[in-house]
Amino acid sequence: MSASTPPPLHGPAFDADPHPAYRWLREHSPAHRVELPGGAWAWLVTRHDDVRAVLADPDMLKDPARANEVWRRSGMGLPFDHRPSLVRSMVNVDGDDHARLRRVAGGAFTPRRVRTLVESAERVTADLVDRITAVPDPDLVRDLAYPLPIAIICDILGVPPEDRAEFHRRAAVLDSSGPEEVAAVAAVTDWFDDYLAHLVDVRLATPSDDLLGDLVEAHREGRLTRDEVTSTAFLLLVAGHETTAALIGNLFLILLRDPEQLERLREDRDLVGPAIEEALRMESPLQNATWRFPRAATTVAGVALEAGEPVLVSLLSAGRDPERYDDPDAFDPGRGESHLTFGHGAHFCVGARLARMEVRVAVEAVLDRLPGLRLAVPVEELRWWPSPIMHGLFALPVRFDTA
Ligand code: HEM
Repeated sequence: MSASTPPPLHGPAFDADPHPAYRWLREHSPAHRVELPGGAWAWLVTRHDDVRAVLADPDMLKDPARANEVWRRSGMGLPFDHRPSLVRSMVNVDGDDHARLRRVAGGAFTPRRVRTLVESAERVTADLVDRITAVPDPDLVRDLAYPLPIAIICDILGVPPEDRAEFHRRAAVLDSSGPEEVAAVAAVTDWFDDYLAHLVDVRLATPSDDLLGDLVEAHREGRLTRDEVTSTAFLLLVAGHETTAALIGNLFLILLRDPEQLERLREDRDLVGPAIEEALRMESPLQNATWRFPRAATTVAGVALEAGEPVLVSLLSAGRDPERYDDPDAFDPGRGESHLTFGHGAHFCVGARLARMEVRVAVEAVLDRLPGLRLAVPVEELRWWPSPIMHGLFALPVRFDTA
């Protein structure tokens, strides 16, 4: 990588190890213009303090209507307003509307509500680990990291048990489609829109004690529009499972590459929480936070931006910035540092508490029940999601000792 040539920011080598490319960007072009599918482009911000400043800035707007014309016309693959009933959620609005939408959904993620979900997460995890011990080709991503968060989000939303397999199947298409697979994404998006509309109709007829029931009640009282109900449910699905799944996979990979760390965790369970934070810092499951658009002309990392120019901040890069962290590439659960992987400011992740709980339950179960855990294939053969958004493993085949 030369000092004047920007590194490739896509492709299998980047997916498997994006860190050298982010290092180059931090050093040479901390607000870098990147080309996007559909003819659009964006500013990619990579230094920790710049990322934090953008996330904290209320003049960095989330409403896509504030984006410049090139971004809006490109549609970024699927046109942004393909299904308006799926995009009117807190992550795409600012100010009072944002506070209103966040208040209604936030109730599902209070410490008390998350505590009530621990038992269900433990039950689902125990079943999944049972299955892992019974299959010939166990895979910690396919068999645990992926199905656990989906099961919990279905519980929270109140998706009926008989619909969950289909829900899971459709979500998997959404997750595994690349930016060019517009038709597949459109078809699945349409399915979710229709399915969520059906669930809302069911709750309008019969109120229920789940998050969708709460959202429908808020709609009945005039606090949410119907589009905001379905958009919020869809956001929680999208935001809540792939991220958590990728974090579980990334943490296990760190531990499997360094068996001494795995043994330390097995022996000292107090290290599980700090190890989760360290995995969040080092291997953020999200490469970037969501889009932002400056309200007016501004400067980021020394670069002048016009109003509406799209901005992406790299959480994955921020976590490895040597200006912020000593020895940033070392996994050290004892460092006790904060990170930006759940965001910062008004849009800080609503589900952070839930995600931490799910990952903890998954890690504890594996430590308890899978002795001698090891990788089944060389690290170089592991497949990563070819995604410009996610940073996670597609599969994590393992072996362990049986009694
Ligand atoms: C390891 C797992 C997760 C990570 C790394 C993560 C990361 C993030 C980040 C970085 C943001 C801020 C985005 C921005 O400012 O552009 C965010 C927002 C959000 N997250 Fe998470 N998330 C995770 C799990 C979850 C879960 C489990 C849920 C819920 C089920 C959830 C729901 C949300 C929602 C609703 C927002 C939007 C908040 C707002 O706009 O005010 N996330 N998340």
